[in-house]
Amino acid sequence: MFDTITQIFDHEHYLREPLQLYEPIEYTLHLGGKRIRPFLLMTANRMFGGDDSQVRQAAIGIEVFHNFTLLHDDLMDRSPIRRGQPTVYRKWDENTAILSGDTMFALAWSYFLAQPSPRLHQILTCFNQTAIEVCEGQQYDMNFERTAQVTIDDYMMMIRLKTAVLLAGALKIGALYAGAPEADIDHLYQFGIHLGLAFQLQDDLLDSYGDVAQFGKQTGQDIRDNKKTYLVLKALQTAPQPLRDELSALFASTPADADAKVERVWQIYSQLGIRQQVEDAIAAQFAQATLHLDAVQLPPSAKTPLQTLIASLSGRKK
Ligand code: IPE
Ligand code: IPE
Ligand code: MG
Ligand code: MG
Ligand code: MG
Repeated sequence: MFDTITQIFDHEHYLREPLQLYEPIEYTLHLGGKRIRPFLLMTANRMFGGDDSQVRQAAIGIEVFHNFTLLHDDLMDRSPIRRGQPTVYRKWDENTAILSGDTMFALAWSYFLAQPSPRLHQILTCFNQTAIEVCEGQQYDMNFERTAQVTIDDYMMMIRLKTAVLLAGALKIGALYAGAPEADIDHLYQFGIHLGLAFQLQDDLLDSYGDVAQFGKQTGQDIRDNKKTYLVLKALQTAPQPLRDELSALFASTPADADAKVERVWQIYSQLGIRQQVEDAIAAQFAQATLHLDAVQLPPSAKTPLQTLIASLSGRKK
């Protein structure tokens, strides 16, 4: 399946006039990435007997949408690198990241509109609702940078919106193209939500413990940005005084020496055993996801690709 997806994206091009608008789109979509969302969309479609040609445009559309969110996210998070290369706002400029991103959102719609289906209205409704929720999640993510009292429940709500609904939506859309039964679509959607929660928890973990060369993003970025990730929230929950006050103060500051701040936070995480606690939370989400996959009324062999995906995502390094 990943070969099929690689081929699709290798053959798709976005360049046209004015080049200043489209070059960053071509650049971003040809930097690779894991292509998880098109994988989910196409896998869900195949599971219910659909043919790949039935969802090719939609699979591109969901990836173009995802890449749009990255252009804007990197600007919002001031992230210098992605997929091992300079982010669009760094390679070009901020206005370019905004406008190329806007264009990608509209382009995503064009791809979906080009993929006929008797359920197109339901599909587009799902896509649009997902897009709105991703923006809501991104807003909470930014709000929390400036909020001291963020709970783990708040955080889970925020990552459900900014990340999990897109994975879930990709599965739902793929299943809708194949004409899957509603009850199965619901379980697949919930599978995607838990998969997405695990996925964002892993992303947060890699932001502190990833290897930059493999992860392709700068580590310590969440700490620099005062992001209220699961890591810091767990640390605040378990730290004894006066360590807790020190950590709170660090996450309310923007010091000139950000590297020293990152190092100190990592020291505190390690003292509190945070890494293991995040890994436990990730495993719990994968377990929940598996329960929903089990409930889908299909023969076990149809579920193998999604089980294999969980296995390959567990302990991911990028
Ligand atoms: C990055 O998504 C944004 C998150 C939701 C963490 P991916 O980790 O899927 O990024 P690519 O597409 O593989 O680069
Ligand atoms: C990203 O969360 C979620 C979206 C892009 C919608 P992050 O900000 O953690 O993603 P990365 O780490 O920059 O990829
Ligand atoms: Mg980011
Ligand atoms: Mg972000
Ligand atoms: Mg991240």
